[in-house]
Amino acid sequence: MSIQKIYQYPETVLRKETQKIDTFDSSLAALVEDMAETMYDAPGIGLAAPQIGRSLKLIVVDMSEDKQGEKKYIPMINPEIIAHEGTQIDEEGCLSVPELTANVKRHLTITVAYQDLQGQAHEISTQDRFAVVLQHEIDHLNGILFIDHLSPLKRGLYKKKVKKWLEK
Ligand code: NI
Repeated sequence: MSIQKIYQYPETVLRKETQKIDTFDSSLAALVEDMAETMYDAPGIGLAAPQIGRSLKLIVVDMSEDKQGEKKYIPMINPEIIAHEGTQIDEEGCLSVPELTANVKRHLTITVAYQDLQGQAHEISTQDRFAVVLQHEIDHLNGILFIDHLSPLKRGLYKKKVKKWLEK
């Protein structure tokens, strides 16, 4: 297992199309372990493969009930939102978008179809905060960052800030 580099906006790998996974082998399991380790090291509550430079339809999300206790996470392979209802607004941040948190409008409840490490198909229906995390991570698989959901003004301010850092 090893901690991977997390790519940050505006690196282009975050915008690239991702490939569907159809091989469920030990290298996929190793990649999932690396992603979980990278997520907890950051620390974060979710991580998508493009964030470590891998253009694959794969996310890991934290499921720990107690932040001090044992770390539990779930890998979701080829996840897809197949139903949604309602709206909610909650604050988001992203390991690939440093120094910014902002309110984002999302679906309140969602149903996600995904495969596990063995390739078995599952569906999960969830709401509130966990639904936000899943929508945020699945967005990454489509090259979408949470700043894309902000007003042009807010997004513009952030882009300007990043440009200044990069000039330093
Ligand atoms: Ni993110």
